[in-house]
Amino acid sequence: MTNSRALCCVFVLAIIFLNVHAIHGYYYDKGPVQTLTKCPGFYCGRHQIPSKNDTTIWSPCGSCPRGSRANSTWACSDCTSSPTIYDWMYLCFMVVVGLLAQWYSIDMITPNPQFSWKTFGTHLSAFIETCLSACITLLIHEPFGSLQLRSCAVEQLSDWYTILHNPNPNYEEVLHCAQEAVYPLYSIVFIHYGLSVFMLFFIRPWMNRAFQNRGHSASRPIYAALYLFPILALIHGVMAGLIYYAFPSIIILLSLMSHAFHFASRSDQSWRALLFETVSCVHNLVVVIGHWLLHGFGLVALTLWLQPQLLAAVLTLVPLPTFLYIVLSRFTDPGKFHSD
Ligand SMILES: *[C@@H]1O[C@H](CO)[C@@H](O)[C@H](O)[C@H]1NC(C)=O
Ligand SMILES: *[C@@H]1O[C@H](CO)[C@@H](O)[C@H](O)[C@H]1NC(C)=O
Repeated sequence: MTNSRALCCVFVLAIIFLNVHAIHGYYYDKGPVQTLTKCPGFYCGRHQIPSKNDTTIWSPCGSCPRGSRANSTWACSDCTSSPTIYDWMYLCFMVVVGLLAQWYSIDMITPNPQFSWKTFGTHLSAFIETCLSACITLLIHEPFGSLQLRSCAVEQLSDWYTILHNPNPNYEEVLHCAQEAVYPLYSIVFIHYGLSVFMLFFIRPWMNRAFQNRGHSASRPIYAALYLFPILALIHGVMAGLIYYAFPSIIILLSLMSHAFHFASRSDQSWRALLFETVSCVHNLVVVIGHWLLHGFGLVALTLWLQPQLLAAVLTLVPLPTFLYIVLSRFTDPGKFHSD
């Protein structure tokens, strides 16, 4: 009994000692240094500061300048890698979300779902604005004037939330090392959304004039977009890291839901009518094919690590939800339950 109590005491003391040691034992050079020495935290680094004579001087530990990131030897090294395919798909996803949100809002606002040139003009205008904004965003990022990007690789979730990782060595002072570790994948989305709003004011009036679109049907989509983009920017600001890792699942889930919603909102639920209305109505055909594209995009992003041959096999699953809905619709008709 006393033995185990003594053991317990020793154990607790050891833990306290180790902790105190850890707290008071973190040593690093606080000022500028001539040779690189370690910095606390994941994202603190030293950058070269110009000196009068030939020696290189490294700054005190802090956040790296924009466009660079602390490497394993605590030097701020420039972001020179190119985005991976997954990174590009993530950026595409953020662009497509902005466009689809606008398209949905345009469809919700127009009173009748029939095809009209005015609604088509608004859709087309949103598409052109998004494309222009995305291109300009890429052109004004390094390397300037090309559609390529220079970036730092995403290594882990916390890269998106460096502000939560400001170290507080020895509980003395907080080192502010928050920076865009995934440069430019985080800020570029804000720039794209901002430019989209700019394009909205720049291009939409001309398109509305070209399609003779006046009154509510012209102004409401603009108001809707002025709400949508700040909301999207806010969601991106808070959730970017989570979205980066989850977007393949998000896109598959949302497109499956929206696909089911599209079919469920048809008046005639017999499989013949579902099939016929899909093929005969241009609007329905575009919606269904659009969903197939989204399914395909999500599946490719989700299974990017597979062999290319397997990827092709996975892509044959794309139209499956449509066929399943059409084939199974007669079993899921709520009217059947009441008549049985
Ligand atoms: C360069 O300047 C630093 C201080 O600014 C000094 O410590 C160092 O000795 C100088 N080096 C030479 C080669 O003069
Ligand atoms: C870190 O960056 C510095 C400066 O760019 C470079 O000299 C050094 O080799 C880099 N270290 C590693 C491990 O990449």
